[in-house]
Amino acid sequence: MQNKEYLRYKALVEEHLLYFLPEIDHKSITLHESMAYSLKAGGKMLRSVLLLAACDFCGGDEKLALPYACAIEYIHTYSLIHDDLPAMDNDDLRRGIPTNHKVFGDAVAILAGDGLLTSAFEAMNKDMLLYFDNVEKLKRRVRAVYEISKGAGCRGMIAGQIADIEAEDKQCTKEILDYIHLNKTAALIKAAVRAGAHLGGTDKKTLEDLDEYAENLGLAFQIVDDILDVSGDEEETGKKTGSDQVKKKATYPCRYGLSESREKVLELTENAKTAMGPYYDNAEFFIQLADDLANRIK
Ligand code: IPE
Ligand code: IPE
Ligand code: MG
Ligand code: MG
Ligand code: MG
Repeated sequence: MQNKEYLRYKALVEEHLLYFLPEIDHKSITLHESMAYSLKAGGKMLRSVLLLAACDFCGGDEKLALPYACAIEYIHTYSLIHDDLPAMDNDDLRRGIPTNHKVFGDAVAILAGDGLLTSAFEAMNKDMLLYFDNVEKLKRRVRAVYEISKGAGCRGMIAGQIADIEAEDKQCTKEILDYIHLNKTAALIKAAVRAGAHLGGTDKKTLEDLDEYAENLGLAFQIVDDILDVSGDEEETGKKTGSDQVKKKATYPCRYGLSESREKVLELTENAKTAMGPYYDNAEFFIQLADDLANRIK
């Protein structure tokens, strides 16, 4: 993802990432250190970048969307800290460094995840407090927070995570496999795009097209992640390869093999690009991003 615009959005998020966290309370310094450890480890920032880009695309001011972009990054990072715990995927390496619980212990890692999740909502609500005298702007923000809570919650990412855990070591149907991927991964990616669109003041049709784009991109993203778990490079992904096989996870490569999984990525990438087709040159960022994500497995 070396696209200039992507890097510009990413730098903007990185610059503000710690800014929207609650002030450090020195009595709970370990908690803050543990949260900052995972946040600063340097992920791709895909969800926050998408939120800013969607806001821009719909005519909004990206700088005003930053509390929401950082909040979604807090939620995503919390989900990874918990996902890596011994009780879940039991992974030791994340973003190229030891996982949070390997450094701070399970209890602190659980609390750091809790801290990041709640900080996300604190940051978004703190921003909303500034708009009580402007109902239109407040409404956009309330809609964004609703999208993010839904995508991250029990009808989204958490639903996918529990289905993922329950499918371990079993033969699962195509429906369950898609349910897992659409929820554990695509839901938050979709929420990022939809939240950004609301913040930018989207119309209904644009929201539908962005939604279609994000769902296809999100599903492709998880299949790429599954493929990289089999054939990727630890240096590049910052995670140990072969982790899914150890836990007998329900993945595309496991069910369909590598070559069919690659074809599926290409098909979903085309669907994502088609959804943004009507916007021609204005959608260049989204089209390029879909290709860049698919090219991770080239
Ligand atoms: C990892 O997400 C979890 C999945 C949904 C596959 P990312 O690949 O976006 O992780 P970071 O943020 O770049 O570390
Ligand atoms: C994780 O999927 C999705 C989350 C909601 C965290 P994975 O378990 O495949 O993600 P990685 O491979 O550990 O990043
Ligand atoms: Mg997992
Ligand atoms: Mg995992
Ligand atoms: Mg994975």
